[in-house]
Amino acid sequence: MSQARIGLVGLGVMGANLSLNIAENGFPVAVFNRTGSVTDAFVASAGDLAERLVPAKSYEALVASLSRPRAVIIMVKAGGPVDAVIDALVPLMAPGDMIIDAGNADFHDTRRREAALRDKGLSFIGMGVSGGEEGARQGPSIMVGGNPESYAVIRDIIEAIAAKHEGVPCAAYFGPDGAGHFVKTVHNGIEYADMQMIAEVYGILRDGAGRAPAEIGTLFAAWNEGPLNSYLVDISSRVLGTLDPKTGQPIVDVIVDKAGQKGTGRWTAIEALRLGQSPSAIEAAVAARSWSAEKATRQAGKALFGDLGSEALPIPSEADLERALLAAKIIAYDQGFKILAAASAEYDWALDLASAAEVWREGCIIRSALLDDMASAIREGLPQGQLIFAPRFAGLIRDGATALRRTVAYAASAGVPVPAFANALAYFDTMRQGRGTSDLIQAQRDFFGAHGFERTDGGEGQHGPWAGSVAHS
Ligand SMILES: NC(=O)c1ccc[n+]([C@@H]2O[C@H](COP(=O)([O-])OP(=O)(O)OC[C@H]3O[C@@H](n4cnc5c(N)ncnc54)[C@H](OP(=O)(O)O)[C@@H]3O)[C@@H](O)[C@H]2O)c1
Repeated sequence: MSQARIGLVGLGVMGANLSLNIAENGFPVAVFNRTGSVTDAFVASAGDLAERLVPAKSYEALVASLSRPRAVIIMVKAGGPVDAVIDALVPLMAPGDMIIDAGNADFHDTRRREAALRDKGLSFIGMGVSGGEEGARQGPSIMVGGNPESYAVIRDIIEAIAAKHEGVPCAAYFGPDGAGHFVKTVHNGIEYADMQMIAEVYGILRDGAGRAPAEIGTLFAAWNEGPLNSYLVDISSRVLGTLDPKTGQPIVDVIVDKAGQKGTGRWTAIEALRLGQSPSAIEAAVAARSWSAEKATRQAGKALFGDLGSEALPIPSEADLERALLAAKIIAYDQGFKILAAASAEYDWALDLASAAEVWREGCIIRSALLDDMASAIREGLPQGQLIFAPRFAGLIRDGATALRRTVAYAASAGVPVPAFANALAYFDTMRQGRGTSDLIQAQRDFFGAHGFERTDGGEGQHGPWAGSVAHS
């Protein structure tokens, strides 16, 4: 007997909250979890919403409870567990039915799964969901890829559960196969850069200016009222004002400085490199997390090199730090949008970059006041595909670049690491350098490998007169 419009497998943090969100929006949802006791506990704690939940104790029961065409969301641990659930569902489904992976998948896996299911007459939708636990329950940002006809069947549910920006759902269809999961991956890459840059300001104020966490939190709260208004600045401010109940110390002072990562930032950097891009601010943020994990090494390094004694430049003003953070953040987004454009061309996705900025305006972790302007700038057309060249942003960047330069110069002089800021600045300076230094790189390549170069006065595949070249002493 069909009782539910949609099914969901995996009642972990995200799946449980997404199910309640679906139910609250009026859609009966069938739920299944590998460990059955989790399903019982979930339904028992759902209150009034339990009447719209259809608990299932087997994949067979789950599929049998769905109206046709059947749609099942998978919200389990990424990787092997997703394949295991797909393998269990496929024999129970019929042509026209669909499986939706709403976890954080590597989009290459999504492309593979989509092709495999298409061969069996089934649809596979890769759906990136951002917003963490609260977003899943109250309205996440949703990035969809896959068969558009199948998405049309569930679109009313997805738009109902998504966050809203001035009434517009923060959910969009981006293209076939892995397009949605790729947009979500780049979202996470930008998130890494955004978080790292905020942490770098915290580092300058803590280690350079000797400010207490609560003071830094108060400053961030003030910034959150201005152009930096964003979820991440807001939560950073709240975190810095929070005390550890056990010791009474600021909570950040009792947290070990080793960052975790589940891979989406790394996937962004790896895929960008494959596409001939280099999102330096995102790469730096991934590197910073990896380096942070080497706590024992860093402590040994402190014992060896901690007292180098440097002559620090004056510490940047609060206004400079604010403008530097804003400029560096826009540069990270510029790099993120360039990856999306490159992947779109490579995989024939016809990605709407403005739509990505629009679905990120609410619900997701990188939501910020800047995204509305970014969407408008993209719709107006990005000169040379660069967000930082857009008239809406060029002024902010011109102004902020000086502050960013002062900040990076100060940090270098004081020995405070700011890898994301420094890499954002290097990218900006490269993108405004009419003549770079790759003339020498090309000459070196031709010298040792006869790779050829293009002459400024015309002609490709040219070679230098290296036989007569002399070594200078
Ligand atoms: N947490 C977040 O903030 C967040 C945000 C965005 C996206 N995501 C993504 O959302 C997905 C779910 O994340 P999560 O944090 O809610 O949970 P999770 O810890 O990644 O996964 C827990 C769920 O996976 C199930 N599971 C594990 N292996 C399984 C298998 N072989 N077969 C069937 N079920 C299996 C577990 O069932 P049992 O109870 O039986 O163990 C449980 O329901 C992940 O892809 C994650 O990356 C998470």
